[in-house]
Amino acid sequence: MAKAREINIRRMERADLEDVLAIERTSFGDPWPVMAFLGEFENQVSFQYVAVSGTNRIAGYCIYWIVLDEGHILNIAVAQDERGQGIGRKLMNFCLDHMFSMGVHYVLLEVRLNNAVAQGLYKSLGFRELNIRHGYYADGSDAVIMLKEMR
Ligand SMILES: CC(C)(COP(=O)(O)OP(=O)(O)OC[C@H]1O[C@@H](n2cnc3c(N)ncnc32)[C@H](O)[C@@H]1OP(=O)(O)O)[C@@H](O)C(=O)NCCC(=O)NCCS
Repeated sequence: MAKAREINIRRMERADLEDVLAIERTSFGDPWPVMAFLGEFENQVSFQYVAVSGTNRIAGYCIYWIVLDEGHILNIAVAQDERGQGIGRKLMNFCLDHMFSMGVHYVLLEVRLNNAVAQGLYKSLGFRELNIRHGYYADGSDAVIMLKEMR
């Protein structure tokens, strides 16, 4: 199991967006535009966090919603050169702990069918495959819908 080195998790701020967008653009073929991130700041049910390394560098981020007893992971990414060190797992555990403390019973997410790394992470955290949504992404590729029941 990868071990996270010195990493702090804190709320994402507008000033972080340049670094966050740089990670977003190298992580996804269909990156969120800046407006999508700005929209999350205005959304009452949305939570945005960044993982910051000891050298004060933004190493990753996650965005999720909490609506009543349901959680939804919308976005998570780690900088390419910071992957495989446990940062993604740390971000996921952070948001799952937060959701649990807020009374969430179900957590949903979508992940590309061919994204074995992310699916491996989610399965190890107790997510299971619920459904395949064909043609979910803009490029026509399929999504796996995954669910975790909190206990
Ligand atoms: C998915 C992602 C966030 C994982 O972040 P990370 O910091 O590299 O992950 P971690 O080091 O915490 O590893 C967590 C788990 O992911 C899986 N994993 C990580 N790197 C892997 C690799 N190269 N091959 C296979 N599985 C891998 C393993 O299950 C690992 O658990 P383990 O270390 O106990 O074996 C990162 O790869 C990423 O940003 N990918 C691009 C964006 C993306 O796909 N986001 C998810 C969209 S749904």
